[in-house]
Amino acid sequence: MALLKDLEWRYATKKYDPSKKVSQEDVDKIVEAARLAPTSSGMQQFRVFVISNQELKDQMVEIALGQQIVADASHVLVFASWDEYTEERIDSIFKLTTQERGLPADKFVDYTNRLKAVYLKQTPEENFTHTAKQAYIGFGLSIAQAAELKIDATPMEGFNSEKLDELLDLRSKGLKSVLMLPIGYRDEENDWLLPMKKVRNPKEEFAIEL
Ligand SMILES: Cc1cc2nc3c(=O)[nH]c(=O)nc-3n(C[C@H](O)[C@H](O)[C@H](O)COP(=O)(O)O)c2cc1C
Repeated sequence: MALLKDLEWRYATKKYDPSKKVSQEDVDKIVEAARLAPTSSGMQQFRVFVISNQELKDQMVEIALGQQIVADASHVLVFASWDEYTEERIDSIFKLTTQERGLPADKFVDYTNRLKAVYLKQTPEENFTHTAKQAYIGFGLSIAQAAELKIDATPMEGFNSEKLDELLDLRSKGLKSVLMLPIGYRDEENDWLLPMKKVRNPKEEFAIEL
């Protein structure tokens, strides 16, 4: 119930108060919600970049198609996913799991072989489509965590991902940007969306009972 109230409270904030900053403790919680997200085969195919540097945020405005939100928000989280699947990436996460759980080293060999048989024959583009979907799951949980903390957030995919990858040097890390999540505190006087009703499809149209 509390979660539903938080989700009703939140909205895609259009104007931030640049003087208000989110505490490190709260930023950490919002990132942690994404880290705890479920992912396909538990491979955690995405990373979160936490940007508070004003110069970087200013440069991101043009990349975000002129959206001033990214400069005025306290922090911008950039969700970036693996640019493709590789044998090394698949092995690495299952090695961590076997070590952390104290399992025999060959525990997941059959399973990872099956994953490799699927992913390693797909194109990098097909694989990125899959890894990017995982980022959306973490993104949703971060939005919900921000709302629970009464911190505003704006889900954003309106930006030039190639330019952002260049600015943040993501290619060298084997990552590609998927989403941006500016977080901060609303400018109550000047955000045109704040007084507007939240509009959703009626419940009876949304949930289809069979
Ligand atoms: C994946 C995604 C991308 C979005 N991209 C943008 C964006 O680039 N700029 C923006 O102002 N809002 C963006 N939005 C916000 C949506 O327009 C907004 O969530 C939707 O209209 C519902 O309104 P609410 O979030 O206020 O409830 C995006 C939302 C999602 C989920």
